[in-house]
Formats: sequence, structure tokens, C-alpha cells
Amino acid sequence: MIKAITGTKDILPVDISKWHYLEKLLRETFQLFNYKEIRTPIFEETALFARGIGEETDIVSKEMYTFKDRSETSITLRPENTAGVVRSFIEQSLGAQQSLNKLYYIGPMFRQERPQAGRLRQFHQFGAEALGSTSPLLDAEMIQVAYHILKNLGLKNLVVKINSLGIPEVRENYKNVLRDYLKDKKDNLSEESRKRFETNILRIFDSKIEVDQTIMKNAPLLIDYLDEQSKNDFEVVKNYLAKVGIQFEVDPALVRGLDYYTKTTFEIVSGSVGAQSALCGGGRYDLLVEELGGKQTPGVGFAAGMERILLACENEKSLNLPQDSIDVYLIRVDSKTEQNLEPALSAGRLDLKLELEIISLSSKLRQEYISCDYDYLNRSIKAQMREANKFNAKYVVFIGGDEFNRGELNVKNLSNGEQQLINIEDFEKLKSIIKS
Ligand code: HAM
Repeated sequence: MIKAITGTKDILPVDISKWHYLEKLLRETFQLFNYKEIRTPIFEETALFARGIGEETDIVSKEMYTFKDRSETSITLRPENTAGVVRSFIEQSLGAQQSLNKLYYIGPMFRQERPQAGRLRQFHQFGAEALGSTSPLLDAEMIQVAYHILKNLGLKNLVVKINSLGIPEVRENYKNVLRDYLKDKKDNLSEESRKRFETNILRIFDSKIEVDQTIMKNAPLLIDYLDEQSKNDFEVVKNYLAKVGIQFEVDPALVRGLDYYTKTTFEIVSGSVGAQSALCGGGRYDLLVEELGGKQTPGVGFAAGMERILLACENEKSLNLPQDSIDVYLIRVDSKTEQNLEPALSAGRLDLKLELEIISLSSKLRQEYISCDYDYLNRSIKAQMREANKFNAKYVVFIGGDEFNRGELNVKNLSNGEQQLINIEDFEKLKSIIKS
């Protein structure tokens, strides 16, 4: 049997209402903050991610789904959407049409990581990018948007972590300070961190390994080496968050795994999802547009993992979704189905007049936006009733038998059991009962 690829997941009808609920909340929230949706392709040229995210990052060096297409172009399934949005911003000259572009996206991303709870190889992100302003108010707005969404999902166990990585010159200078600090401790670091010492020294802060953490506990912190502008901007972010009632922690070790960040970085973590606790992450990237060949344009953004968020909602039982239902289930009262004939036997013996009446009625109901369904399997009345209950039908309409011959329908309200006979021609009456 062919199975789904490791780390990918089917989203089945029983779970889809959570996704619809989340997607509706996202669109409403982005509308509230005046962000416009952008949809970029799921695959791009590999060079975009290598240059945008950074060759030495875990994403680019180990996790990308990269392949040559038939014309020998190296293609990569997008591991994130910031690089794609920036590519589109440059290519479509969005900056020429609008001085500040506030954009959002929702869609699948791909990373070949080791799957575990909350970590998949195809996962979904929603995110936002604002291109065109250096204002730290926008950094804080990003945090506010993400927080607004998570709070409105009923999540409680949240911590907002913020940090500043400063401007590149400061960071380069600080890397030397860190290198000096680690020089004589290097041999005690884990193998992974020894590698990072050479390639991406800041990421040693991300290590979950105890020896590394012990060594990094006393390391000098970038936040103590910030330039004036970065320091001031960071204060603005903190003041904004305090003003709108969002509690936060300053986490000087929050370096993030992508190379494009400058100044503010942030994550919102949840205590309800286990090891993969970051529900969202983001920050400012004032050099990325230029790096990818555009005019100098500052940017800031975030992305959030939708599977992880829904897992947190499930663990906190924070969503109270209405059950799926339909308005009406039409039940065929047919002497043949009543005898409970095998479908194969009864198939050729449809009462065409009755079937056509059901088809006509269902069609009229749907025209009026009343949802309905009926049986295609020639099942008994009892089995059709079971089906109506399974779909949480609000009403059933019995069509057939003596009543049908007299030109009547029997409408039953399944929540209180009340039944009414109505004239088959009187559609207005049927409609008013169901819509009441
Ligand atoms: P990121 O931190 O790599 O940032 O991913 C953002 C979020 O996506 C994570 O916090 C997590 O919730 C989710 N996520 C990442 N990898 C997986 C996975 N394998 N399975 C499930 N969920 C996952 C970015 O992607 C940046 N583009 C964010 C950004 C936008 N920065 C500025 N603008």
C-alpha cells in the first residue's frame, strides 16, 4: 500500500472545522490591522533561499527539499515565505505602488526535519511582512497581531520573548567578543556547537545540550553591546507592548535560526505543546531586500506554525467549536426501501416519481441557502434516520407513502420532535418552518 510521506499529514473532514475557524480568525485579524494577502508560488529557485535565509543555517544546509527540474534548474519547495514575499516585492515593484506594504500569507511550507509532535515536513504557516518602514512601532505591531490571534483562540499558556540583534557591524563586533570568550572553552562544547563556532557562532545559544548551556550561561550578551539606534528602537518596542497590555520577557539568547535578522527578534512560546514550543517567530530584516537585489527597503515580519497552534488549542481545550450540521435531511419513504432490500436488488426499482420530487425539493432548498442531503444507497427509513442524526440534521422531511400520494410532506424538527404535514406545493411554508 502507498502511504503518505513521513512527516506529512492528511487533514481529514473531522478536523477541518478547526482549520476553517483558524483561517477565518486570521483573515479577520489581518483585515483589522490592514494587512493585504499575498500568495507566492510554493517552489522557487534554490538560490533565493540560499541567499535569503543564509547558506550556513540549518534550513538551507540540511532541511530543504531541493531537486533539479527537467530543464536542470535547481528548484526548492519553500521552507518559509519571507524570501518569496521579498522576491515578489522586488520583481513586481510593489514598493513603487505603495510606500509601506503590509502583507500576509497562509500556506504550506516544507522542511526535511526529524518529525515529532508539532514538527512536520509539510506544515502550514500564516505570517505577515511589512516592507518599507524602519519604525519599531511596526516591530511591536507584528507581535501584537500574533498575540491577538493566539489570545483569540483562547490560549493562555503563552510567553512573549523579545530580543535585539542590533545592526550588522555591532553583531560582527560582538561575534569577536563571543569568539574570545569561547576560545579556551571550545573543546568542551558539543560537536554541533564546535561546528557552529566556525560557521554561525550566535546559534550556539540555541543549543539544547547541557554542556553547551552551562558554558553559554556566562557568555557576554549581544544586548549589552547594542548601538544607540538599536537600543532606542528596542525601548520603543517594549513601551508599545506595555501600553497595549502584552507582557513580555527579554531573552538575550533569542538569536533565531535564519540569517536575515537585524535589530528586533521575537518568539511567542507555549507551555502546552512540549519540546516544539515556539508557536511563532519573527523579527526585523532591514538588509534582506537589498541582499536579494532590490532597492534598500527595511522590513519586519513573523510566521506562525498552524499545526502547533492547533495542538496547543487541543491541549488547552481552548476551542469551543459548534458541531458540524446540515439544515435538512430528506428521507425517502418508499415501500421498496422499507423492505430493506439489498442496494443491488433495489437499484433498478427506483420510484422515479419520488426520486425526482426529492431532487426538485433539494434543489429549491439549496437555492435558498438551506443545506440538505439525501440517501443515494436505497437504505431503509431507519438507516436514513441514522444518517440524518449522524449529520446533525436540524430537520428531516419525509417524502413518500400515502402522504406523498395525497400531495403532502411530513416535516420533523429533530431538536423537539415536533412534526407537521404540509402541502408539497407550499414551498414557502416549508422554508419558513426550516428558517424559523
Ligand atoms: P521560523 O521560526 O523558522 O521563522 O518559523 C516560524 C514558525 O513556523 C515556528 O515558530 C513554528 O511554529 C513553525 N514551524 C517551523 N518549522 C516547523 C515544522 N517543521 N513543523 C511545524 N511547524 C514549524 C520563519 O519561518 C520566518 N520566515 C519568520 C519571519 C517572517 N521572520 C520575518 N518574517
